[in-house]
Amino acid sequence: MCGIVGILGREAVADQLVDALKRLEYRGYDSAGVATLEGGKLTRRRAEGKLKNLEKRLRDEPLAGTSGIGHTRWATHGRPTENNAHPHATEQVAVVHNGIIENYRELRAQLEKEGAKFVTQTDTEAVAHLVSREIKKGLSPADAVAATLPQLRGAFALAFLFAGKDDLLIGARKGSPLAIGYGDGEMYLGSDAIALAPFTDTISYLEDGDWVELNHKGAAVHDAGNRAVKRQVLKSSASSVLIDKGNHRHFMAKEIHEQPEVVGHTLAHYLDMANERIDLPKLPFDPANLKRISISACGTAYYAGLVAKYWFERYARLPVEIDVASEFRYREAPMNEGDLAIFVSQSGETADTLASLRYAKEQKQHVVSVVNVPTSTIARESDVVLPTLAGPEIGVASTKAFTCQLAVLACFAIAMGRARGVLSEKQEQELVHALIEVPRHMAQALTLEPQIEALARDLAKCKDVLYLGRGTSYPLALEGALKLKEISYIHAEGYAAGELKHGPIALIDETMPVIVIAPHDRVFEKTVSNMQEVAARGGRIILVTDAKGVAAAPVDSVLTLTLPDVPETITPLIYALPVQLIAYHTAVTIGTDVDQPRNLAKSVTVE
Ligand code: F6R
Repeated sequence: MCGIVGILGREAVADQLVDALKRLEYRGYDSAGVATLEGGKLTRRRAEGKLKNLEKRLRDEPLAGTSGIGHTRWATHGRPTENNAHPHATEQVAVVHNGIIENYRELRAQLEKEGAKFVTQTDTEAVAHLVSREIKKGLSPADAVAATLPQLRGAFALAFLFAGKDDLLIGARKGSPLAIGYGDGEMYLGSDAIALAPFTDTISYLEDGDWVELNHKGAAVHDAGNRAVKRQVLKSSASSVLIDKGNHRHFMAKEIHEQPEVVGHTLAHYLDMANERIDLPKLPFDPANLKRISISACGTAYYAGLVAKYWFERYARLPVEIDVASEFRYREAPMNEGDLAIFVSQSGETADTLASLRYAKEQKQHVVSVVNVPTSTIARESDVVLPTLAGPEIGVASTKAFTCQLAVLACFAIAMGRARGVLSEKQEQELVHALIEVPRHMAQALTLEPQIEALARDLAKCKDVLYLGRGTSYPLALEGALKLKEISYIHAEGYAAGELKHGPIALIDETMPVIVIAPHDRVFEKTVSNMQEVAARGGRIILVTDAKGVAAAPVDSVLTLTLPDVPETITPLIYALPVQLIAYHTAVTIGTDVDQPRNLAKSVTVE
């Protein structure tokens, strides 16, 4: 999604703006631009494609302004051309925007009737014209923004720079996040604390409906009713070091390899290791009274929720309904008052997940979120937050956040089972013992990398790949297919192994690789039968299993990846790693942009 930055500095800020935009690259974008004040005049440099194009533009035509705004654009309205790139500007104001202005057509029609000349296909340009119109009526920049914001429908974070005002930046937020950074005689705006990390670690987040006036000395925040309000000032932990690739070629590789550490860290937060029990924060409800759980999330986070469905049903004997959030938010699901709704999100800003959360609150659910960004909107609007301690995830394809989500959800399901009297103390101890071993098994799973690299050279030539799994390996099959699609652009599908014969088996021929995720668990025999159906039709099987599975599998596979023998509960945490590595190395072999795959955004703050 689009990234925003604004700086009121003391020296030329163009380089700093680009530096901050580089730290927002992970969100996904297809064009970029900056605007600064040159002798009081708004001056822009914009470029299609990656930031190196913008840097070249700035080398050819440098900017010297000490106040500026910058933007990475993920196109929604209008193609990703230089002309549609932000900032959009009139003579009076330049604006950068993340989100969608839903009523921009009406606004544009009205403004054009009044004589405004639109030069782009974007929704954002309407905002520049609206503010300009108010300034031309004689309003101050702040009053012009205050008069404009109520006219905008949709989700947005905005930053404005005004002609002739080099001690003023205005930011506004409704739906999309925006942070204020406090420096020493300098002030900043940014989509997140990561963007501002090289400049300051003193951050404050705008609440929905807030807008803020910045000058070099500080910030004045107003709420949606234009009342002056104070927002908490925090120390951010998003240090510069954390977004370094280390010795890895891509952030995704680094994040895959970090998993033993960050999952260990996350588990340590929820486990009482000495007593082998789960230690959750206090819940504002009695688990014994719950009748049902609902889970909503998107993409990879949804698949983490799907694994958790198996765990909550098995360990806590609670029925679970799970939906992708974009469906849940509109399907008017009936919910019993006082039940539990769980939302899973790395960014904590995903628009569909947030809307689902708000629906669940209206339905009087207890709202628990599993999020990686503790300052995010989803975290702030939840009754209880169960943080994942994955650290900043920069690769667009989610990896370490996924396994940390699984770790938290496993702890939650076990704690609920214990609180409901379904699990005995001994059973809890056994499960906790298994969880404690996860980082060690993960480290061992990573040693399969050379074999996976060789496999990837073969997969890179394929047009389609199937993934199969049963039980908690079924969501992993879905996740494997999603990962491969998004970073290698190879078509892939994940199926419940038993569902294959109901249609997809027609796809099998000798060119079709079928990746079977089959730990030697309760359903292994059943998966083996499905594998035999594939083998009988000439499909090329890649079996991901353990030593017991290798011994018991009667069919020949092209390749077997042998993972450590681990207790059934933790298999999704361990098997996720080869699944991620398969996608990663296939994409590297093909040569795609692994960390920023085409068309994708990291934090999806639009519908
Ligand atoms: C896939 C991926 C996406 C996200 C999804 C939800 O690799 O990263 O499918 O999982 O967009 O994002 P969050 O977790 O931020 O709500």
